[in-house]
Amino acid sequence: MKMASSLLLPLLLIFPFLLHPAHSKLTLDYYNKTCPKFAKIVQEVVVDKQLAIPTTAAGALRLFFHDCIVGGCDASLLITSNSFNTAERDHKLNQALPGDAFDIVIRAKTKLELECPGIVSCSDILAEATRDLVSMVGGPYYTVLLGRKDSIESRATDVEGHIAKPDMTLSHIIDIFADKGFNVQEMVALVGAHTIGFSHCSEFASRIFNFSKKQDHDPTMNPEYAKGLKKLCANYKTDTTIAAFNDPMTPGKFDNMYFQNLQRGVGLLASDQVMMFDPRTKPYVDLYAANQTAFFEAFSRAMEKVSVHNVLTGNQGEVRKRCDATNALKTQ
Ligand code: HEM
Repeated sequence: MKMASSLLLPLLLIFPFLLHPAHSKLTLDYYNKTCPKFAKIVQEVVVDKQLAIPTTAAGALRLFFHDCIVGGCDASLLITSNSFNTAERDHKLNQALPGDAFDIVIRAKTKLELECPGIVSCSDILAEATRDLVSMVGGPYYTVLLGRKDSIESRATDVEGHIAKPDMTLSHIIDIFADKGFNVQEMVALVGAHTIGFSHCSEFASRIFNFSKKQDHDPTMNPEYAKGLKKLCANYKTDTTIAAFNDPMTPGKFDNMYFQNLQRGVGLLASDQVMMFDPRTKPYVDLYAANQTAFFEAFSRAMEKVSVHNVLTGNQGEVRKRCDATNALKTQ
């Protein structure tokens, strides 16, 4: 025992991060001296883009979540593939992420490189822009700490197993979130992100066409809703671009309507609707459906946690010169 503690002190002196997780190095004022216009520039880009293309907010929120949950918030999802490497963004689960979501980071980065070259990381831009977009469409304004570094690699093979799919059992999905340190309440709040955005028909087709021998659509669905979706998705196999609103009542507004929808059988994905029937998740669905403030509070805390997940800081990673390629690749 004595031996162990006498070894611990020198170890902690050499590796102080053993005491403090990487994200404790992030600060609110990280760019105050080196790039004081950081927040203003990101906000201007966000406002312009969201007003021109209103689907941007949902795309960016999903992009940010998928970046953070696979290996940490390190902008690895922004890197493009090349002949030697298939990057995260080309994994099947990321292929539907809209170009506008990537574009917002590229635009902000271009402006920031002119203002303060080599200072602001792509991962910080994505975290800040996502928060600004969420609040712009009516959601809560949560705290975004800064000082992340960008990854120097991105591999499609790292994605599998980290991102939940609509046809997984709820227990499997709960396990995936738990693996990352998110409990059931945090998970339900985070999935409340489906208050905005779209899902392509292929993601819920099995619920509305030939559901079972006895039933054509999933009986947990509101019948009128199922009818409307069948009509919308009638040609989804030939036209793969057809998509439905995740929240058909207030599709562009970040609010608690998604949870109220679940109570009425108007959940789009099987993984959404099941949360209303499982005793582990139902109490939170009911709470957030009844109380938007409770949802916003829980969503904010959970997003703050997502946004520091496994971040790179200090001399880990790099500040990329451009967001779609590592610096080493760019100079090759
Ligand atoms: C149970 C866990 C989850 C599952 C199974 C799931 C699955 C999906 C699927 C299949 C889509 C449709 C993609 C498409 O067709 O383009 C989608 C969209 C979306 N997801 Fe999730 N998701 C989950 C959790 C989350 C979380 C935690 C967030 C963010 C915090 C999130 C944010 C979004 C957003 C904003 C969209 C709309 C994207 C757009 O309109 O471009 N999702 N999700």
